[in-house]
Amino acid sequence: MNIVLFGPPGSGKGTQAERLKKKYSLRHISTGDLLREAVAAGTELGKRVQSILASGELVSDDIVLELIREAVASVRDSDTESGWIMDGFPRTIGQAEALEALLAKTGEKIDAVIVLDVDRNAVIERLSARRSCPNCKAVYHLVVNPPKVDETCDRCGADIIQREDDKPATIGNRLDVYEKQTKPILGFYNGRRPVHRIDGTQTVDGVTEQIEGILG
Ligand code: AP5
Ligand code: MG
Repeated sequence: MNIVLFGPPGSGKGTQAERLKKKYSLRHISTGDLLREAVAAGTELGKRVQSILASGELVSDDIVLELIREAVASVRDSDTESGWIMDGFPRTIGQAEALEALLAKTGEKIDAVIVLDVDRNAVIERLSARRSCPNCKAVYHLVVNPPKVDETCDRCGADIIQREDDKPATIGNRLDVYEKQTKPILGFYNGRRPVHRIDGTQTVDGVTEQIEGILG
C-alpha cells in the first residue's frame, strides 16, 4: 500500500505517519526529515539546502526527486516493508507528475491521498509550540504533548530543540508557499487518485482512527 499524506505545515503529517507505518508495515518517507539529516551531517547537499530550509522556501524539484527515487527503490527491495507513506512530498505539480512517471515505470501506484485540513491559526499555534528531537525525530507540543522532563526527549534522552523554520518569522512564509505552490496539487489528484479529506483539528487519536477507517 502506498499513501500520500497531504496537508499544510503543522497539520500532523509526521505525527500520523509514525503511527500508520507500524500498523501497515510501511516506510515513512519524509523529504523534510531527509533534508534536515543532510544539514545535520554537514554533507554537500546539506550545505546547499540549509538556508533554503531556514527561509521556508522549497528546495529544487531535482534535489528532492533524487531523494525520492532512492527511497522508493529501497522500499521495493525491502523484505519487511510493503509500501510507503509520503510526508511532505509531492509539494509542486512538477513533483506530483514526476512521481506518477516514476511509479508508472515499475507498475506501482498511489492507493490513497489523505488530506489533513487544519486552518492557518491552528497551524501557527501548533508550530510555535512544537519541539523536535534531532536524534530520534520524536515530535512534541509544549501544551498538548509535552516531554515528561523539560527539554529532554522521552524516547532517547537527547535535548529537544525548536526547528529553525518553526521561528515566528518563517512560519508565515511556509504557509504562503503551501497555498501558492503545494495546494494546487489537489486539483491534479482529483479524479486521478482516491482523495480523502480529514478534519486535522481533531485529537491525534481521532485523526488516526479516521485514517485507519479509510485504509482498512
Ligand atoms: P517538512 O519537514 O515537510 O515540513 P512541513 O511540511 O512544513 O510540515 P511539518 O513537519 O512542519 O508539520 P507536520 O505536518 O509533519 O506536523 P507534525 O506532525 O510535526 O519540510 C520542511 C522544509 O523542507 C520545507 O519548508 C522545504 O524547505 C523543505 N522540503 C521538504 N520537502 C520538500 C519537497 N518535497 N520539495 C521542496 N522542498 C521540500 O505536528 C505539528 C505539531 O502539532 C507538533 O507539535 C505535534 O505534536 C502537534 N500535533 C500534531 N497533531 C495534532 C493534533 N491532532 N492535535 C494537536 N496537536 C497536534
Ligand atoms: Mg513533519
